Amino acid sequence: MTVTINGKAQEIHSGERLIDLINRCGIEVPHVCYHPQLGPIQSCDTCMVEVDGKLARACGTMAADGMNVVTSSTRADAAQREAFDRILGNHMLYCTVCDNNNGDCTIHNTTKMLHVEHQEIPYKPKPYEVDMSNPFYRYDPDQCILCGRCVQACQTLEVNETLSIRWEDEHPRVLWDGGAPIGESSCVSCGHCVTVCPCNALMEKSMLGEAGYMTDLPKSALDGMIDVVKGIEPEMGYGSIMQVSEVESHMRESRTKKTKTVCTYCGVGRSFDVWTKDRHILKVEPLEGPANGVSTCIKGKFSWGHINSPDRLTKPLIREGNQFREASWGEALSLVARRFTEIKAATGPDSLAFISSSKCTNEESYLMQKLARAVIDTNNMDNCSRYCQAPATTGLFRTVGYGGDSGSITDIEKAGLVVIVGSNTAESHPVIATRVKRAHKMHGQKLIVSDLRENEMAERADVFLHPRPGTDLIWLSAVTKYIIDNGLADQKFIDQWVNGAPEYKRSLESFTLEMASERCGLPIETLTKVAHMIAEAKGVCVLWAMGVTQHSMGSDTSTAISNLLLATGNYMKPGTGAYPLRGHNNVQGASDHGAMPNFFPGYQEVADPVIRAKFEKAWNVQLPPKPGLDNHMMIDAIHEGKLKSMYVFGEEMSLVDSNANFVGDALSKLDFFVMQEIFFSETCRFADVVLPASPSLEKDGTFTSTERRIQRLYQALEPLGESRPDWIIIQDIANQLGAGWKYEHPSQIYDEIAALTPLFAGVTYERLEGYKTLQWPVAEDGSDQPLLYTKNFDFPDGKARFYPVPWSEPTDQQDAQYDLHLNNGRLLEHFHEGNMTYRTEGIREKTPCTFIEVSPELASERGIQTGSWLQLTSRYGKVRAQAEVTTRVAGKELYMPMNSTDEAVNRLTSSHTDKVTHTPAYKETSVQLKVLGETGDDPLPRTNSRHGHPTPQTGVEVERKWKRKDYRLPGDHLVQIQTR
Ligand code: SF4
Ligand code: SF4
Ligand code: SF4
Ligand code: FES
Repeated sequence: MTVTINGKAQEIHSGERLIDLINRCGIEVPHVCYHPQLGPIQSCDTCMVEVDGKLARACGTMAADGMNVVTSSTRADAAQREAFDRILGNHMLYCTVCDNNNGDCTIHNTTKMLHVEHQEIPYKPKPYEVDMSNPFYRYDPDQCILCGRCVQACQTLEVNETLSIRWEDEHPRVLWDGGAPIGESSCVSCGHCVTVCPCNALMEKSMLGEAGYMTDLPKSALDGMIDVVKGIEPEMGYGSIMQVSEVESHMRESRTKKTKTVCTYCGVGRSFDVWTKDRHILKVEPLEGPANGVSTCIKGKFSWGHINSPDRLTKPLIREGNQFREASWGEALSLVARRFTEIKAATGPDSLAFISSSKCTNEESYLMQKLARAVIDTNNMDNCSRYCQAPATTGLFRTVGYGGDSGSITDIEKAGLVVIVGSNTAESHPVIATRVKRAHKMHGQKLIVSDLRENEMAERADVFLHPRPGTDLIWLSAVTKYIIDNGLADQKFIDQWVNGAPEYKRSLESFTLEMASERCGLPIETLTKVAHMIAEAKGVCVLWAMGVTQHSMGSDTSTAISNLLLATGNYMKPGTGAYPLRGHNNVQGASDHGAMPNFFPGYQEVADPVIRAKFEKAWNVQLPPKPGLDNHMMIDAIHEGKLKSMYVFGEEMSLVDSNANFVGDALSKLDFFVMQEIFFSETCRFADVVLPASPSLEKDGTFTSTERRIQRLYQALEPLGESRPDWIIIQDIANQLGAGWKYEHPSQIYDEIAALTPLFAGVTYERLEGYKTLQWPVAEDGSDQPLLYTKNFDFPDGKARFYPVPWSEPTDQQDAQYDLHLNNGRLLEHFHEGNMTYRTEGIREKTPCTFIEVSPELASERGIQTGSWLQLTSRYGKVRAQAEVTTRVAGKELYMPMNSTDEAVNRLTSSHTDKVTHTPAYKETSVQLKVLGETGDDPLPRTNSRHGHPTPQTGVEVERKWKRKDYRLPGDHLVQIQTR
C-alpha cells in the first residue's frame, strides 16, 4: 500500500498515521501537539497538509492506500504558519535566557523550521500567576500554548486524571483538579506532563536558573533582557535573534552531561537520561525507555536527593567500642580480610554468610556470590528476594519452569483481562499500573482486583474482591475448579501442553464455590462472575506481589495462580501469562546472577556435580557442594551460635526482615559484621566495619527488571568522596584474601557470567548499548525471548505441569488479646523504609511519616480520629504512629506503610515463614490497638495527593475547543479568499 507524498510514492505500514509516515520519510512538517506516545491530540493545527486536495491534520489522519498528500503547497504552508502564529500569541520567545533552550524545544525548533521572522498575532500574557506550589515542577500559564499534551498524558497515559483545560473559559489554561494550586491537588508528581510539555510552561524546578548560562540572572535583569529582545525583533526579525540563542544552546552541550541510566527504585526497569551539570541533577528525561516510554513515577523522576545528600558515607568507618571512627581504605580492607580469615580458620567457612543487594547491579551480585563460594568456600549466600519474590519464583518453577514473568509489559497492555492479586500496583509499580489503567480506560480491558484494601486499582476494577486475609489460594482454586467442571477450561491447550491434569482435578475436589464463599467471605455470584470473566476473556494476565507471596502459603498461592492460567490456556500467547511484580530494581537480577544459597547464576544448582565442576574449572577452586543458608536461616544460625560473621551490602536487613527485634538481637551477637552502604543505615549500627559505596548514578553495570529485561546503566557522576562502586569493593576484599581478581570494568564481569551461564549466553555489553535491551533467556547469537514460552515450557518434555496445592490456616492468627489484622506495604512516594526517598525534601514534605490506616467503623467503635496517636502491640513488638481513618481498609483490618525507620512495621511482624522458601509471612500479623489519648494533625499533610479531587475526562477534549466562537480551522480563510 502506498501514499504519494509531494509526488513520490511511499510505502505505508499498517495502521500508520500520516504524521508518522511523513516523519519516517524525513519530510519536514511542523507538529507541535503530536507526541507518538500520546496519539493525536489535534489541538495545535500546525500539521495541516493537503490530502487529496483538502486541508487536513496529518496527525489526525490515517495513511490510506492511494492517498495523495502535499505537505508544502501554498495552502498547507499558509495553514501551518497561521496555526503556529496563534501559538506564538501564547508564548514569548526569549530562548537565550530560557532554561528550555537545550536543542530539543519544540517551539524553538518549529520557529526555526518555519523560518519565522515576525509574528502576526501579538503575544498576550494570560491573567494568571505562575504556580510554584509543587516541590518538583512549576507551571507558567504565560508560556503555555494550550497544546494539551500534558492533559492527554495525565488523563490517558498516567491516568491520574488531574489535568484538564476548560476550553469554554475566556482565557483557558491548564487546571489541576479543576482549579486548585498544584501543590494541593491530586497530582502525584509522576512528571509525565512535564516530560511531554513542548516548551517551558511546565518545567522541573531543578532546571530553573541552572540549565542556561544566563538563566540565573535576577528577574529584573531577565525581564530587561527580554524587553530588549522584543524591542529589536520588529527590525531584526527572529532569525538573527535565534542565532544568538543557538550559540548559547550549543555552549550548554559542553557542560550538560546526558547519561542513560536505569531507575534505582522498583522492578519496572524504567530507563531514562539523567541530565547533570557537575554534580547537580538538572532533570530526568525519559524518552524512549523500552519498558516505560516517557513514563516515570515521583521516585524515578524526582527522588534523587540521596545522591548528593550530606549524609552520604564517604569514608570507611571502623567500630571502636560504641563509636565509629573514620579509617583509610587500606586499614578497613585489611581488617575485613584478617577477621574473615581468622573466623574461617576458627569455626569454618560456613560460619560466615553473605547477603547481596537487590539495589545493586548484576555484576555486583555475581561477584558477591563468587566471593562467598570461590574465596570463602561457603554457599551461605542470599539476597532480599527471600523477603518477597522467592514464593512467586517457586510457583513458576513448579508449573512452567522458568522463575520469571512470562511476557512483557506490552503483553499486560494487550490482555483482554488483567487480574491483580495482592498488589498495590498503582503505588508499588506505578508505571505498570499506568499501562493497565490506560488499557482499562481507553481500550476496554477488563480488570479484576483481589486485595484487602480498596486501593486505586481496586477502585477502578470491574470486580473488586476483598477476601479474608490469607485465603486467596481458596478462591483461586475454587474458580479454577468451577471453570474445569463447567467445561470452560481450554481443554485443547491442557491436552497438548500440561501434564498432571487428572491428579490436579482430584486435588480441587474440596474447593467448591460454597466452601470458597464461606472461607473467603465472598459471594458465590461474584466468584461465578470472576470465573466466567477469566474463561471468556481474550487473553488473561495475572499480576501479583507481596500480598500473595508474604504469607505462609506464598509459594502455594503463586502456584494456584499459575494452575489457573494453565487451565484456561493463558500461556504461550501474546497478552497472556503470569507476572509476579518484582519489588526492587534488581531483585530479579540478584537471584538470576547467583546470589542464592542453592544456585549459581542462571539457576544452575550448586548441588549438581557437573555444574559445580564447570565453575570449579573456570574459577580454579574447589567449591562447596551443599546448599547454604538462606537469610532467614542465617538469623536462626546466629542465635544458635553457628554463624559468626556476615558481610551485607545495600540491604537494610535489621528493619526489612520480619520480626525486626529478633533480627537486631541476632546481628548484635555477630563476632564480626561488615556493612557496605551509601548511608549510615539502622543496620550499620550493628556493624564492626562500614564501607562507603556508590549509588547507581556513580557506576556502570546492568540491572534486570521484572520482565527479565537486562539493561545497562552508565556512570553519570564520579563516586562521592572516597566512596567506591560495590563491585570494586567486593573485588578489593577478594584480593585482600588472595583471590587475584583483575576486573577493570563490569563488562569483563559480564563476559565471565555469559560464558558460564546458558541463560545469558548471548549477553554482551555491545548488545546492550544505550537503550538496547535483552530479555532472558538470551541465546549465544543474541536472540532473546520477550514472550517466554513460545515453543515449549522449560521442562525436559517441554510440557507444563499442574501442581496440586492444599490450603492451610494462616499463622499468627487473631485471638481475644490480638484482635486486629495488620497488613503492610509500600507507599507511592517512598521506597520501602525510605532510606533513599526521605533524602528528597519534596517527598519528605508530602509524606513525612508512616501512619496506621483505620476503617471508619473501627474508628467509631474505638473513638479514633485521623491524627490520633495509636500504639500497636503484636506478639513480637510495639510501634506508635498516628491514625489515618479511611475507607481504603475495612472492619478490623489495619494497614501500615513501611516508610519508617523509627516505627518500622517489622517490629510487629513474626518469624513465621512460607513453608517452602522461608519468605517471612509479613502479611500474617495480629495486633492489639491502644488509643494513646493525644491527637495531632493528619499524618498525610494537606499537600498530599490523596486529599485531591481528580477530574476524569476522556482526554484533552479538543472538540470543545473547536466549538469556541473564536476558533477557526487555519487555512479555511485562505481557501475562501482563493475561491473568491
Ligand atoms: S520554551 Fe523554547 S521557544 Fe520558548 S523561550 Fe524557551 S527555548 Fe524558546
Ligand atoms: S499526576 Fe501530576 S505530574 Fe503526573 S501527569 Fe498528572 S499533573 Fe502531571
Ligand atoms: S503546559 Fe500543557 S498545554 Fe501548556 S504547553 Fe505545556 S503541555 Fe501544552
Ligand atoms: S500536530 Fe496535528 S494538530 Fe497538532
